[in-house]
Amino acid sequence: MDKKIIGGLGAGVLVLALAFPLSNMGARTLEPAPASRVTHPALQANLDFYANSCVDCHSDAAEMPFYASFPLASGMIEEHREEAMAFWDADRELFVSGLPSEAALAKIQQVLETGAMPPASYKALHWNAGVSPAEKDSQLSMIRALRAELSPGYDDPNDPLLARSIMPIVDTSGSLDPAKIELGRKLYHDTRLSVDNTLSCASCHGLDMGGSDEAVSSTGVEDQKGPINSPTVFNSVYAVAQFWDGRADDLQAQAAGPVENPMEMGDKWDDVVVELAQDPVFVAEFMAVYGPEGWTAEQLPEVVEGEPLATPAELTAEALTDAIAVFEMTLVTPNSPFDRWLKGETDAMSADAIAGWEIFDAKGCDTCHAGQAMGQTSFEKMGVTGDYFAARGNPTDVDKGRMGVTEDPADMHRFKVPTLRNVAVSWPYFHDGATRDLDQAVRTMATYQREHQLADDEVTKVVAFLESLTGEYKGEPLDG
Ligand code: HEC
Ligand code: HEC
Ligand code: HEC
Repeated sequence: MDKKIIGGLGAGVLVLALAFPLSNMGARTLEPAPASRVTHPALQANLDFYANSCVDCHSDAAEMPFYASFPLASGMIEEHREEAMAFWDADRELFVSGLPSEAALAKIQQVLETGAMPPASYKALHWNAGVSPAEKDSQLSMIRALRAELSPGYDDPNDPLLARSIMPIVDTSGSLDPAKIELGRKLYHDTRLSVDNTLSCASCHGLDMGGSDEAVSSTGVEDQKGPINSPTVFNSVYAVAQFWDGRADDLQAQAAGPVENPMEMGDKWDDVVVELAQDPVFVAEFMAVYGPEGWTAEQLPEVVEGEPLATPAELTAEALTDAIAVFEMTLVTPNSPFDRWLKGETDAMSADAIAGWEIFDAKGCDTCHAGQAMGQTSFEKMGVTGDYFAARGNPTDVDKGRMGVTEDPADMHRFKVPTLRNVAVSWPYFHDGATRDLDQAVRTMATYQREHQLADDEVTKVVAFLESLTGEYKGEPLDG
């Protein structure tokens, strides 16, 4: 071939090869819609970094380059984006009003530390994408600062314990009113909250059973089998929302549910209130906490032979669920071997447990099981890297997870990530109670969340690590 033509072709290729990256050189900004959602100043200050390096694949709000509509490019970009969004959706997790979740922060931290993002192929075409050492440092320090805001008991962003996505539990319940806690404790164990006075909260969330009931799904009044596994109540105070699908905003809202759930306690709060009002001992204790200032037992409603006692105006479902919620805030389990190890007690964990932690960390299990509770901070898809439900069969209504509440198809099969604290004593596992075997639960997670088959000895080590997460309640290690 003529040298000139070859030269011309070469120059053409060169021009083309430069055209894409050069066209990508301009500084990018995030489209106004997601940017305007972001209210936290630390996040606002960092939006340009994410716009330049991440949003093309992790956001629907990315402004696409001119070649994105070319046949080949558009297919490739879409494919990348779908996969990327399945793993990490910045629109939902980062460009939010208020604070992002601890899981979202853990995910960013992981890719910053491994250097996996943005992918090398992307950097080849986007010369100003990528993470410089200075950018990495500033993102990590933003993450620590946000973590300090998110984590009760941690105030100093420079606390070295905030450098990891998982922190030791700090029991901050000392500031709660002891009389309220005691009232809540009694109500939690009171069977008068169920229609036939057979069940209390503790029936399905035994404090001596890891906060759960050791059943695949719970049994309500009249022996009714419920559709879903009962989660532990320990460390539920750390949860973004309550229930597997997050349908209750907080512990107080949650506590209202089981009493009136026909499949659980089957009662009515109005009837519970009337029943409790007939118990002068209870009313005295209740009014001492919720009654007007200076209330004394002499003000107890008068007992008239054969007539029901008057119900004090303060005695309401709202007050009762408040007391239960305050009691539940004390159900935290600090001082596990892992927490002591994190704080520098080097012999608190066995060699196997430490090796298990390293596997857990390296495989990114902490990107969902993050925060003090090692979970509870986000709703994540069960089956990121495989179809868990197709493999299991027998679909049920509760398998929809979060979508059952939001009706957003993107929430299909998303569940509130369960805490891994005390996981060794709160079997069986998963929302469907699929297994009571922790080995199996670990294998399932590795396969469906991380696309990774763990070797037998790796599973043994991860389980040894999970066993080191059993903490103390009232100074005693939790029982299963
Ligand atoms: C060219 C597209 C592309 C860009 C740009 C990109 N990612 Fe990704 N990202 C992906 C893909 C594809 C995956 C899916 C799994 C994988 O390849 O690791 C992913 C996965 C992730 C995950 C989940 C990792 C895990 O193992 O759970 C996070 C978090 C993430 N990216 C963050 C970022 C951040 C932060 C940036 C910017 C600094 C970024 N990504 C830039 C394509 C991209
Ligand atoms: C019949 C058994 C049963 C009884 C009784 C019961 N629960 Fe539950 N509890 C469950 C089940 C099952 C779930 C999970 C339901 C779901 O997520 O859809 C649950 C969920 C919870 C959660 C949410 C935990 C989390 O991580 O999301 C809390 C907290 C809780 N219950 C506290 C209570 C309290 C307080 C009472 C008493 C007022 C109570 N439960 C009575 C079975 C029961
Ligand atoms: C993408 C998020 C994500 C990642 C990554 C992840 N998990 Fe999970 N994990 C979940 C969700 C969601 C559930 C609840 C699923 C369900 O009930 O259907 C769960 C449940 C569990 C349970 C059962 C807890 C219980 O009380 O029911 C264990 C054990 C567990 N994960 C361990 C791990 C291990 C070990 C890894 C790493 C190999 C891991 N997880 C990685 C999201 C994740």
